[in-house]
Amino acid sequence: MKIGALVREIRGRFRDKGLETADLDARLLVAAALDLDVSTVILGADDEASEGACGKARALCEKRLSGMPVGRILGHREFWGLDFRLNSETLEPRPDTETLVEAVLERTPVETRFRFADIGTGTGAIAVALLAERTNGLGVAVDISEVALQCAAGNAARAGVAGRLLCVRGDYCAALGRGFDWIISNPPYIASAVVEGLGAEVRDHDPRRALDGGIDGLDAYRSIIAQARSCLNVNGRIALEIGFDQADAVAALLGDYGFFAIEIIQDLGGNDRVLVARRYKKQAF
Ligand SMILES: C[S@@+](CC[C@H](N)C(=O)[O-])C[C@H]1O[C@@H](n2cnc3c(N)ncnc32)[C@H](O)[C@@H]1O
Repeated sequence: MKIGALVREIRGRFRDKGLETADLDARLLVAAALDLDVSTVILGADDEASEGACGKARALCEKRLSGMPVGRILGHREFWGLDFRLNSETLEPRPDTETLVEAVLERTPVETRFRFADIGTGTGAIAVALLAERTNGLGVAVDISEVALQCAAGNAARAGVAGRLLCVRGDYCAALGRGFDWIISNPPYIASAVVEGLGAEVRDHDPRRALDGGIDGLDAYRSIIAQARSCLNVNGRIALEIGFDQADAVAALLGDYGFFAIEIIQDLGGNDRVLVARRYKKQAF
């Protein structure tokens, strides 16, 4: 069978199922089954795929039809143009989180040396993206899960930034000392009751610990904001990913702990997605 025909067959089955990304998913899975990159699948549509490869592609297709996200099937996912491996204790990094990376980069002059902590690092997506962009950055990646940290360390090594990233197991900022220019986090922020009602693709495949932010979704923000002040330099800043309806509540928490110059940044879909704020400076009296 020709590669193009195989892609069309699988795409058709995904469309029948109503998958929004049927075309991309079909190409990614055929590429994985044939051990090719996606561009070769597109350009080589008239090349023959062996029976074995077709069988492998159809098996991956069945997994997708059963509700498994493509990233989980493949075991890796692209974020910020880099490839991140996943494991059972890591969230699949989402495109919205690139807004957080962008917010930090835009506020950090290229020539500046800076130290940051990525709290709840998961795959290490945020920390590794920042370090890949800025060779004068130094990072600490924190997670409560040792298994997630192993994943982050591996991803940092593959991206060539492991020498500038320290992976530390800890409860949010509790294990950190002083001297950070940025505390950055995409913490678990979904209210517990909402987690129950999430679509199966998220609920059954992303670890609950990466999603569940407690009764009102704000537990992690309360901990991180309370701890962050003592970790930050005088001119340090905090950058937090938030749910689309959490800006007011999280901004109020930041204000309670003396953070100021609070900025609300939208993602590409126009939803509030990131808060950035400065650490309180002591008055000279
Ligand atoms: C929403 S995920 C974010 C993962 C990654 N930073 C990203 O943006 O793709 C939240 C992460 O916080 C971690 N986490 C949950 N509770 C934690 C705690 N008490 N201390 C440190 N990390 C925690 C989870 O294991 C998970 O990796």
